Amino acid sequence: MADDRQAHWLSPQTALNYARAAVQVGLWASERILINQTFPNKSAKVLELGCGGGRVGLGLAKEGYNNLTVTDFSPVMVDMTRGVFAEAGMTQSATIEIANACRLTYPERSWDGVVFAFNGLMCLRGRADRLEALAEIYRVLKPGGKFVFTANDREKGEHAGLWKSEPVLSGCQNGDRWHETDSTPVFMHSSTESETHQELLNAGFKIIQSPLRSEVAQENSSVKNFAGETRFYIAERP
Ligand SMILES: C[S@@+](CC[C@H](N)C(=O)[O-])C[C@H]1O[C@@H](n2cnc3c(N)ncnc32)[C@H](O)[C@@H]1O
Repeated sequence: MADDRQAHWLSPQTALNYARAAVQVGLWASERILINQTFPNKSAKVLELGCGGGRVGLGLAKEGYNNLTVTDFSPVMVDMTRGVFAEAGMTQSATIEIANACRLTYPERSWDGVVFAFNGLMCLRGRADRLEALAEIYRVLKPGGKFVFTANDREKGEHAGLWKSEPVLSGCQNGDRWHETDSTPVFMHSSTESETHQELLNAGFKIIQSPLRSEVAQENSSVKNFAGETRFYIAERP
């Protein structure tokens, strides 16, 4: 189990923490700004991957997005998200279902937008999975469709100093690391802006912008306690 890089996301305690965040933290100011800017049409057909406890999905439904599909590979996360939407009386506002970002079953060119919020793309088992997910996201986006996600930046985040002296773990890429949490350890990748740009370009995307969260908005303390500095990426399938 200690080697299972996805086990953290199957833990009920982790899912409960993310459901709490859906209720208590909600959509970040930066997410609200960038998602509204990227998808000005509230009827845009948007797929959320890695929804956790429904924090962003619920936030988008409350913003008026009415063509949302909210997904996670983890059944317990999907259950929590259903519960969170039900508590908010918004069960009818989104389709909520299981989807693995590395093996999407949606048809080609079927979405106006894909959102993989709060470093979800960086929570896969490593680079091979990430490249698979990027290829899948590209495949299911319509031409002109946009992909919005964030990634921890190991040159710009709170731990930039520590990263400089961190050795590369065996069997891992630079930036791959296990982190302690208050449930189980989590395996996560922290990238640099140029590495993530290169992965996006190799997958065929055009990069629109990649600001740090702090460059987009000042977040309140509950957001900052939930999630440290991160970098947004907005890319387009040409
Ligand atoms: C850091 S959490 C973010 C949760 C949520 N987006 C939020 O902002 O609160 C990462 C999420 O990615 C999901 N995830 C991990 N691997 C995945 C995969 N292969 N496909 C889809 N989702 C995945 C996890 O279950 C978890 O819910």
